[in-house]
Amino acid sequence: MIARLSPRPLKRIQHGIFGQRRHIAKCPDLPRLDGKWAVITGANDGIGKQSARGLLQRGASIFMMCRNVEKAEQARRHFIDEGFDSAKITLIECDLADLDSVMAAAQAVKHHLQGRKIDILVENAAIRARRYGETEQGHEIHFGTNVLGHFALRRILMAEALAPHARIIVLTDDVYVKARGCSSNYHWRSQMGASRAYSRSKLGNFWIARELQKRHPHYNVFIVHPGTIATDLRRGIPISGWLSKFFCISPFEGAQTTLMCAGQQDLSHGSYYHNVHGECELDNADPATNDEAAARLWARCHEMTANLGASVAIKLAS
Ligand SMILES: NC(=O)c1ccc[n+]([C@@H]2O[C@H](COP(=O)([O-])OP(=O)(O)OC[C@H]3O[C@@H](n4cnc5c(N)ncnc54)[C@H](OP(=O)(O)O)[C@@H]3O)[C@@H](O)[C@H]2O)c1
Repeated sequence: MIARLSPRPLKRIQHGIFGQRRHIAKCPDLPRLDGKWAVITGANDGIGKQSARGLLQRGASIFMMCRNVEKAEQARRHFIDEGFDSAKITLIECDLADLDSVMAAAQAVKHHLQGRKIDILVENAAIRARRYGETEQGHEIHFGTNVLGHFALRRILMAEALAPHARIIVLTDDVYVKARGCSSNYHWRSQMGASRAYSRSKLGNFWIARELQKRHPHYNVFIVHPGTIATDLRRGIPISGWLSKFFCISPFEGAQTTLMCAGQQDLSHGSYYHNVHGECELDNADPATNDEAAARLWARCHEMTANLGASVAIKLAS
């Protein structure tokens, strides 16, 4: 059954938070993902780490694309201590807030793949900053990391034909419904501003994912709301400790929607999968359905990443 989501922010967010304790479903261990290659950003912590573990459990080999390499090495060691095959875990340094680092990381993936292809790409990493900041290339930090960094990574992987038939899982957050725009030059000062900037970036993730599916219908794009989860992302949000204690689910539970989209066969591509409601249909008033804005954002991201390939002379796909 496809759920119809309310475009009203309060109603949407309340239903998500209060419904999730009753609706936790553990994604089955099947189908197995033996022989599959998965790339996952932000795999050293939170939902990303649990998603990485779930992919390994099902037999996949993973590329952990991480900014904090020390923390990523610890996560890798945890996985090996749990009995996972070290040969199936490749750690690659990737700071999504620096397009040069993204470029180098994508080239490292290519090198390690040795002609094989990526089957699953999980665009999981995200920042929710406490203070205003910009990326190396001068973009507002939420936009630059959550939206543009992933856009660049995927663009290079596509240009190199490394993921021709991949399932692409893009993590958003129901709070996107509060936003109306997403841009590189959004200035903010307060905690409220930080929250708006994060929501705008999550709308941007949604728009780019829909536009990606439209432009490349042969891909399997899934847009995921993982739940309201007790992770570091919530640190610094007013009442977050209280919220975590009573309403948040664990990172393990938060990884289940991603894992379902990574493996299950009978899913609809281009759809929004929500941890409480499952597959969702959006109201026309929902900001995610603004296809013109989505196409404009795609064009902007395309321009901003146009010179990425210059240093390694690769031809970037549109
Ligand atoms: N937690 C929730 O309630 C919730 C709700 C809805 C949606 N989500 C979405 O779920 C996803 C995972 O969030 P989470 O809750 O697991 O957050 P988290 O615990 O804070 O983990 C975020 C991950 O992103 C990585 N990251 C941040 N900036 C990066 C950068 N510049 N380059 C590369 N990696 C970077 C972090 O790595 P470092 O160790 O280097 O910082 C970390 O691995 C996000 O897309 C988030 O929007 C979360």
